[in-house]
Amino acid sequence: MLAPMQGLTNRAMRGLFADWVHPDLLFTEFMRVHAASTKRRLSPSDLREIGAEQQGIPLVVQLIGHGCEALVAAASDAQAAGARHLNLNMGCPYGRMTSGLTGGGMLRRPELLDELIPALRQAVAGTFSIKLRAGYDDLRQVFSLLPLFERAGVDFLVLHPRTVLQEYAGLADHAITAEVVRATALPVIANGDIRTAADGRRVLEQTGAAGLMLGRGAIADPLLFERLRGRAGAEPNRRERAAMLRRYLGELSERYRQLFCGDTQVLAKLKGVLAPMDDPDFAPWRSELKKSRTLERFCSLVSGLE
Ligand SMILES: Cc1cc2nc3c(=O)[nH]c(=O)nc-3n(C[C@H](O)[C@H](O)[C@H](O)COP(=O)(O)O)c2cc1C
Repeated sequence: MLAPMQGLTNRAMRGLFADWVHPDLLFTEFMRVHAASTKRRLSPSDLREIGAEQQGIPLVVQLIGHGCEALVAAASDAQAAGARHLNLNMGCPYGRMTSGLTGGGMLRRPELLDELIPALRQAVAGTFSIKLRAGYDDLRQVFSLLPLFERAGVDFLVLHPRTVLQEYAGLADHAITAEVVRATALPVIANGDIRTAADGRRVLEQTGAAGLMLGRGAIADPLLFERLRGRAGAEPNRRERAAMLRRYLGELSERYRQLFCGDTQVLAKLKGVLAPMDDPDFAPWRSELKKSRTLERFCSLVSGLE
């Protein structure tokens, strides 16, 4: 699965992945659910992103928000707009800065989930899944939530085994994923720090997870999907990695020109993709890309990469 990533996995990026490396499942970026009192729970721009699939691949619409009434109403609105698969974000570490109870912040008040999770499950006709951190400040909190998820009939869990307070520090602890897989009958998708085909195979083997969700590793190298399936080299050499980057950023700049308005916005969006790239062989090239002042310069650096 391609992970939901705010600011990155927009329609154009998802389209590139769908056409090139065919993830089994795509997710929208999170969609903010506004309070129950407002009429529009989802923004018009989010509603336009909604669908049951994209290029033949099931599309999961991810909601982030709080309050049972607001989330259930938003789930209905999303389905009226064409969503078939819904996911609840219980992992984002930054929501706690605002209302304190959205995303990963939901894990601070687990008692509120007793009403919310069954209500959402009931409100969603297609699949209903949850993407969560292992806990708010304790990696073992997830175990206390499993009976509720099972009773409610959640379709699958995506587990990022860090705490919310950890944000992105340290490493995902897939020993926790393995324990969760053993502790529940629900399918568990492993997510976190899978950067190479070897990482992915190791996590699958170590955890027995039902599948993998790829985030920053896939943004750095979309072919990671194909490398995991054995359809592209698991350990690409420099020339192969350069060819991948030329194709990737070349195609993405074409797609971003269609989706975003004006060179300045397209350039800013393209630079956003560079953040997860950490291949030391291309570090000087990446810093040139970051410094490029025009889209033309960016694209010429991309096509000139050897
Ligand atoms: C820039 C960025 C944006 C993200 N946006 C979302 C989001 O919208 N919804 C979500 O559930 N997780 C979001 N995440 C978390 C990722 O989906 C994923 O769980 C996390 O990055 C760990 O996986 P990885 O190590 O493969 O990147 C985001 C992560 C990053 C780096």
